[in-house]
Amino acid sequence: MEKLMPESRRMIENFEVIEHVDERQIAALRAHVDVEVPLALHWTWEYGSEVEELRQLYERGKRSQWNAETDLDWSILFPREEWFLPRQGASLLAGVLDSMGADDATCREAAWDEFAHTMSQLLHGEQAALQLCGQLTNACPTMDQKWYAGSQVIDEVRHVEVMSKFLARKMGVLYPVSPTIKILLDKLLAAPTWKLKTLGMQCLFEGIAVGIFDIIKTMTTNPLLKEMLRRVELDEARHAAFGILTMRRLVEDATPEEMAAFEEFAFEILEALNANQQLDMLHDLGPKYGLDPEACVRVVHSLPNWVDLNAEVYMHTVIPNLVRLGLVTERTEERYRKLGIMADVRTPPRSSLPLSA
Ligand SMILES: [Fe+2]
Ligand SMILES: [Fe+2]
Repeated sequence: MEKLMPESRRMIENFEVIEHVDERQIAALRAHVDVEVPLALHWTWEYGSEVEELRQLYERGKRSQWNAETDLDWSILFPREEWFLPRQGASLLAGVLDSMGADDATCREAAWDEFAHTMSQLLHGEQAALQLCGQLTNACPTMDQKWYAGSQVIDEVRHVEVMSKFLARKMGVLYPVSPTIKILLDKLLAAPTWKLKTLGMQCLFEGIAVGIFDIIKTMTTNPLLKEMLRRVELDEARHAAFGILTMRRLVEDATPEEMAAFEEFAFEILEALNANQQLDMLHDLGPKYGLDPEACVRVVHSLPNWVDLNAEVYMHTVIPNLVRLGLVTERTEERYRKLGIMADVRTPPRSSLPLSA
């Protein structure tokens, strides 16, 4: 099977990375805003509940609504000249600069820039989740799924709202979408069936978002950021639960061929995401700090605990959920391990995800 983005692949030592360096191609990707997506709209005349646990999740969503404008204390400052994440271990750029003897102010500035870049990508991802939930509302076959997906639309609107306001009001910067992220989000949005859309967005990307939000929320000392992420994460845990509940039924009924297709699809997406190794971010920010992207990747890969560091986000939610669904088998497990996506030491979950409603 051919991997995604073959033309952007190359080796750094014995690790195959995806790197986008052609500025014209990157600009063209970002300018591609009208995406053709296949969408099969499905009517249903059954208005009663067929899947009790989905209906409960929908009820819980209604009870858990919040207002991004009034439920957060926007008067809290987010000062650029203070560390809001731990000095060590929270920023790739700051870590590399520190190891080169850079002063504290430079490391702090780099960590701030990198965080703004990460938040920008998460915001673009939230927009994709919003678009995809709209699709699911049309395409899902049962009324319970339509109700749930429809209710998730307003959650995702709120996430786009709160994160764009945080970036505009507190950071004053918004980075454009990274090429690898744009290609993967387009692939999810253009997936041919509601089943693959659910797997791709609800299980893979929602699961990764939950991992990142949880890790940042746990580490940050800024009360506004902490509270914003706490609220977003509660919503995202419901979304991930919808993905799992729905996929659990799908895999029960799936043929071996369908199971293999689900497993391949998940691997293909996660492999490509991991292959970027933050090179898109390093491409944007490395030059400001005199850092060569490839040299940064080499430094990180030479760390004795590279696999644990790399696997943390994946092992938080996505991989354990895929394992439970039977979508990591001996066909893919070794491949995940070789890429540093799967590791034995599972990060203890910092929040419990509702796997049954
Ligand atoms: Fe979201
Ligand atoms: Fe979500």
